[in-house]
Amino acid sequence: MGMDRLDWCSQPAQPLRGSVRVPGDKSVSHRALMLAAIAEGDSRIRGFLEGGDTLATAAVLAQLGVRIEAPSAGERLVHGVGLHGLRGSPQPLDCGNAGTGMRLLAGLLAGQAFDSTLMGDASLSKRPMRRVTDPLASMGARIDTRDGLPPLHVHGGQSLRGIRYALPVASAQVKSALLLAGLYAAGETDIIEPHPTRDYTERMLAAFGWPIEFEPGRARLQGGRVLRATDVEVPADFSSAAFFLVAASIVPGSALKLPAVGLNPRRTGLLQALRLMGADITIENQRESGGEPVGDLTVRHAPLHGIELPEAWVPDMIDEFPALFVAAAVARGSTVVRGAAELRVKESDRIATMAAGLRTLGAAIEETPDGAIIQGGKLGAGSVDSHLDHRIAMSFAVAGLVAGGPVRINDCSHVATSFPGFVELANGCGFALQALA
Ligand code: S3P
Repeated sequence: MGMDRLDWCSQPAQPLRGSVRVPGDKSVSHRALMLAAIAEGDSRIRGFLEGGDTLATAAVLAQLGVRIEAPSAGERLVHGVGLHGLRGSPQPLDCGNAGTGMRLLAGLLAGQAFDSTLMGDASLSKRPMRRVTDPLASMGARIDTRDGLPPLHVHGGQSLRGIRYALPVASAQVKSALLLAGLYAAGETDIIEPHPTRDYTERMLAAFGWPIEFEPGRARLQGGRVLRATDVEVPADFSSAAFFLVAASIVPGSALKLPAVGLNPRRTGLLQALRLMGADITIENQRESGGEPVGDLTVRHAPLHGIELPEAWVPDMIDEFPALFVAAAVARGSTVVRGAAELRVKESDRIATMAAGLRTLGAAIEETPDGAIIQGGKLGAGSVDSHLDHRIAMSFAVAGLVAGGPVRINDCSHVATSFPGFVELANGCGFALQALA
């Protein structure tokens, strides 16, 4: 996204204290923009994530003729154009770093009358797309890839038909792409998951008035209805809160509050995992906001011990493994992660990048094809690589809090894709994180 290179230096710090308000949920922000864009009428989104990923999706929708106003930071007013109101663009549509943006848009664009090209940055250009293009093809879509990788050329003017599809891997992005294509398809689209994944698309389609039947692991809808504009309240992103949950757990003397965090059960696997490791995390004031469960979290330092992570929890914490690996690396005893091969196709190969960085800091970690075995111990100073992956960068910033000396993290510019303002918020509660231009 043309961001300048930016390194960080994270140092051992004082206890973490205070209250940290993390930005809006990335998954919910993407979906809110897309559904509002093709709805009838104006939708207001509050708590919108002003991150690179979601700004890229907003820019793509604007390029497709949708007027989106930003009355204030974290607020969007989307003037919906209706299901068939998007206009084609001769220019490629740049999804930046966002796998969610590209995969969901592929589904949305498969049913349009016009052609589109979806492209992304260096990291996104290496991520597998056949998982969406294959099932979309069986719905009648025509999408060209570069050997299964972006850019995607989506041919317009195809008539789509609903399919019954059992996902081979648990992926909310694939499920969502197929449901969005299903809006434009004749008949029923019926998606069955090997393990339930985040259900924001389903919940939000219902909120926009589209009849949909869903339960954990299954979603069904018919094409050819109408989306009616509605306002969306975006909860704070649990995946952003995750770094602070681990940080306060491992820094002695810490006590942090994280207000109004989204607690959709398909997202909170890390909460369970940290508690199993001995973490002290409490939830207060549980309530519903915009159809999503939210609550105020308090995390206090507690000695952590290693665990065998139950495989069934993996999809519910799929974005939280970099943070979990840091917790495991300073816990007593060993932690075993299995059944997490999906980590290899995220913004980076997160098993490899975490293993490399933690080893640099002196940790004993063994990579396996679908996970890792991490021996807890002490971390030392060192220089690690973010591999253009926002969550790797933030995880090593957390590691720096308890390392024997400074941890330098190379090229952290991508943190703004999901967590703009991370450095300021982190330093505000006691991190010693320096940005080195
Ligand atoms: C997301 C789904 C997950 C997750 C990603 C966001 C979504 O990806 O890792 O950060 O918004 O649907 P997969 O569907 O590839 O598991």
